Amino acid sequence: MNTATPALPGGTWTLGDLTVTRFGYGAMQLAGPGVMGPPADRDGALAVLRAVVDSGITHIDTADAYGPRVTNQLIREALQPYPEQLHIVTKVGATRDQQGGWPPARRPEQLRRAVHENLAALGLDVLDVVNLRLGNAAGPQSGSLAEPFDTLAELQQQGLIRDLGVSNATAEQVAEAQTIAPIVCVQNMYNLAYRRDDALIDTLADQGIAYVPFFPLGGFNPLQSAALSAVAARLNATPMSLALAWLLHRSPNILLIPGTTSITHLRENLLGAGLSLSDNDIDELEKISH
Ligand SMILES: NC(=O)c1ccc[n+]([C@@H]2O[C@H](COP(=O)([O-])OP(=O)(O)OC[C@H]3O[C@@H](n4cnc5c(N)ncnc54)[C@H](OP(=O)(O)O)[C@@H]3O)[C@@H](O)[C@H]2O)c1
Repeated sequence: MNTATPALPGGTWTLGDLTVTRFGYGAMQLAGPGVMGPPADRDGALAVLRAVVDSGITHIDTADAYGPRVTNQLIREALQPYPEQLHIVTKVGATRDQQGGWPPARRPEQLRRAVHENLAALGLDVLDVVNLRLGNAAGPQSGSLAEPFDTLAELQQQGLIRDLGVSNATAEQVAEAQTIAPIVCVQNMYNLAYRRDDALIDTLADQGIAYVPFFPLGGFNPLQSAALSAVAARLNATPMSLALAWLLHRSPNILLIPGTTSITHLRENLLGAGLSLSDNDIDELEKISH
């Protein structure tokens, strides 16, 4: 459920038994080009992470595959000792190859290793939320998740993970996961222009489960749309912050994890995501995906 807080757009959401701000931060693009290697501006990346926490954001999304290990190490260096209210959500199920690809790593021994590597890189005893990343770069792929999700449920029972989620998942896989262990979130690709999960978002909202859109601003191909620019100009906002405001408006269970390497963009997004949208604004924005 969400509760109003005047501090950040969208207020807060209860993720399992953790309270997080609905406006979070996605750390992936803090790594080097292609999410490989260190950032060109290391001090700048650390400063962005500190600005995220200073702004009141309490939800950071990461993965040990980013870099690999780079974003987790940056998070640890910038933010340890972690503020009590900060919750870091990570994911396992993919690794990196020499070409920067994201091959699956979902065998039980790979998942156990990945959970321990995340704990070590982040300097934590327990991971707040771990998403099982399914599918591939082309998107979700059908097939049972029973074996890998059973493994994560075992690691949860051992006390290494507080809550579980799934990512890049089909609706069938979301339902299958729930027969194995409760989930608190689903992290799939979704934004103003890409709305394959509309029905799933509504189903999850009914169940009190968070939906966390990745690439909320279009990811490596930032959203570009004449309608988005026109409504943004009318509201005296930037297109990117308007895209975030629309997501917050779309459903109360949507949590934002926009990425940025810029403190200016972070502030701009925080400011604009709190815009209130009229029915007319929403009608115009809804046409973007049609
Ligand atoms: N589960 C999965 O499989 C999966 C896949 C991909 C991503 N993710 C997660 O989703 C998070 C978000 O994805 P993302 O960062 O790749 O994509 P995104 O949030 O959709 O977009 C980030 C891009 O938008 C730009 N941007 C942000 N604010 C802006 C502004 N105000 N004006 C202009 N440009 C702006 C950023 O550039 P600047 O740096 O210049 O601001 C960056 O290039 C990731 O950090 C990651 O945690 C998960």
